[in-house]
Amino acid sequence: MSILKGKDILRSDLLTNEELELIVCTAARFESVLRSGGSLHNMANLILATLFFEPSTRTRLSFETAMHRLGGQVITVADPKTSSAAKGESLADSMRTVEGYADVIVIRHPQKGSAEEAAQAVSIPVINAGDGTGQHPTQALLDVYTIQKEKGSLEGLTVALAGDLKNGRTVHSLSYLLARFGNRLILVSPRSLEMPPEIVDALRREGADVTVESDLAVAMRQSDVVYVTRIQRERFEDQDEYRRLKGAYVVDMSMIGQAKTGIIIMHPLPRVDEIAIEVDQHAGAAYFRQAANGVPIRMALLALVTGRE
Ligand code: NCD
Repeated sequence: MSILKGKDILRSDLLTNEELELIVCTAARFESVLRSGGSLHNMANLILATLFFEPSTRTRLSFETAMHRLGGQVITVADPKTSSAAKGESLADSMRTVEGYADVIVIRHPQKGSAEEAAQAVSIPVINAGDGTGQHPTQALLDVYTIQKEKGSLEGLTVALAGDLKNGRTVHSLSYLLARFGNRLILVSPRSLEMPPEIVDALRREGADVTVESDLAVAMRQSDVVYVTRIQRERFEDQDEYRRLKGAYVVDMSMIGQAKTGIIIMHPLPRVDEIAIEVDQHAGAAYFRQAANGVPIRMALLALVTGRE
């Protein structure tokens, strides 16, 4: 029986190395079946509920694709205005209701900690697809899967994390995973959008070499991977402040020309203006391959937590 059967996936720092390895290996197995044109029926007769109380393109669609690719069925709330949350229903009541319809729940919600709250309300597995400014563990898993595929290893790399490190949940979850494998992290952000100190402290306790650098070009000269993020406009109370910070870091071909040879450029997407369109043609531009890797990783997660791997 899978060590993940019946478990919730709430935070990357709660995953053990054994669980991480199992997820990545299962994803690689599913991906090779799909590549060879095979079909899978692991999730036959099971139903996934995707509950998205915040906008999403990739996360929701790749979870739903993953479920379909495994022969399962999907029910969804893609727009919170159409659900009873709009009538004032509590998250716990919504979850207990959906538990009566589905076998596994994927939830995205604007409140940090909401995925934990949701998971406590039900006994079926709950997967966090983003809880406000908290975490986005399944994105971090597809990110490490991408780095492993693109660089051939997850260890001993220098990774620059750039952009909105305060509000960006993807970099929170990813940094915990990277810190475990002897990677060097360079944090690049405007002063007011620095990585939360409690996360930096936790990374250093894990033994990670974490440095702060204000100049993205300087960071890229030393990095094997640059992971760019969007300034999270929806988290700003002051839109003038957002406009001031937007465009603080933009990766273009001239920066890549001076960067370390073989650098790969990642981004969880959506991109606003952090990566110039010209970069898309570069061999190291990995962000659309990264988005595609969401399908095998989410197939693995769905199958493992339901014991259908
Ligand atoms: C990210 C998110 O929702 O946190 N998107 C995603 O899931 N790929 C990043 C973002 O919105 O900037």
